[in-house]
This record gives sequence, C-alpha cells and structure tokens, in this order.
Amino acid sequence: MPLSKPRLVQTVQHRVPPLHRADLAGVLVSETDLQKRIAVMGRAISKDYAGKDVLVVSLLSGTVLFLADLLRRMSFPLRVDFLGVSSYGAGTESGDLVFTKDLRLDVRGVHVLVVDDILDTGKTLRAVTGKIAALRPASLRTCVLLDKRERRIESIEADYVGFRIPNLFVVGYGLDFAERYRNLPFVGVLRPEVFEANARPERKGPR
Ligand code: PRP
Repeated sequence: MPLSKPRLVQTVQHRVPPLHRADLAGVLVSETDLQKRIAVMGRAISKDYAGKDVLVVSLLSGTVLFLADLLRRMSFPLRVDFLGVSSYGAGTESGDLVFTKDLRLDVRGVHVLVVDDILDTGKTLRAVTGKIAALRPASLRTCVLLDKRERRIESIEADYVGFRIPNLFVVGYGLDFAERYRNLPFVGVLRPEVFEANARPERKGPR
C-alpha cells in the first residue's frame, strides 16, 4: 500500500492546447494539478525523511521533469544520483530491460528513495529495487508520479504515488513516445492513430 493515498484520475479533459490537438486526444493531468500534488508529495517525503542521510535515485530519462519539481519540494539535505534503465521491445508490452548508466554514488548504509515517472508492468521498478537492495542501503523506498495499476505484471507497489491513472497511452511531463513529447508541461493522452502510424518494431509500443 502507498504511504499516502494517490489521487485517482479517471476523466480526460478534451481541451488540448491548439499546438497539440493533432497528436493528443486530451489532457489527463493538468499542469496545475501536477504541481499541487507534487507539493503534497514533497511535504510527505520531507516529513518522513527528516534527519536522515538520503540519496534520491532518479531513473532516466522519463523522470526528468518530475524529479526537478519534486526536488524543489523536498526541504531537507539530500544527494541525487541517476540510474539509466530502458525497456525495448516490439508490440504493446515492455521488452527486455537494459541498464544504460550505473550509479556513481555508494548506496551502502544510506536511505535510498527511487524516483520514477510511471509504474506500469512493474518490471523496471522490480529490477531496479532488486539491484539496489543487493547493495545494502539503510532503507529503500520508491516514489512514482503515475501508477497504471491495470497493467501490472510484477507484484510491486510504490511507497509514494502521485496519481493512479487508467490504461491510456500517456505522454508529456517526461513521458515519451519514440522520444518525443517529454517537454509537455502536462500529462496528455496520445491519439491512437499517432502511435499506430509511427510504431517501429525496435521501440516499445503503447504502455
Ligand atoms: C518507462 C518509464 C518507467 C518504465 C515503466 O521507461 O519511465 O521507467 O517505462 O514501465 P514498466 O513498469 O512496465 O517497467 P522507458 O523504458 O520507456 O524509458 P524512458 O524512461 O527513457 O522513457
């Protein structure tokens, strides 16, 4: 169970900024709602970790925007490191995981908080927590902005969850399709015709 209750998001707003109307069917989480929720998450995390030696481990690349905003809401001394991990594969399922960058800092004996943008099948978080746990941190918790629980294959939950969302192809606020859309300041829903027209066998499909 998450340590705080995630916000449930079920409805898509169909007012999309004109620039993105051709690609996006709607906005799932607005910029305002993201920032409000991240402020709440940051306060909860700050309370839980007060006085501890904390290392935030951010998973590249989807977490960049979320991490930047969350860090500004964490009001305690901490260090940050990055772990590169990607899933590649054809079709609509996550493929094999590849670690593309290792940690630089030593995690042994420190309190580790892993931050990721989305928890989907759970394969990424399962592999990452397994790898970090083997390095003997003092504690290990996880924090995700979005949780697409319907898609879970691994039995894993995050400790801090921003929003629980339906099974839609989401992009923006760090999340990509074929490496695009990461810079949108909100979480949007990609039109099916966009990913169907652009699906390439070497890239992961809808998640
Ligand atoms: C995405 C996302 C998560 C992972 C979640 O990463 O950032 O890390 O998938 O999926 P899972 O729960 O099914 O494992 P991706 O491999 O697409 O790389 P990216 O972060 O560079 O976009």
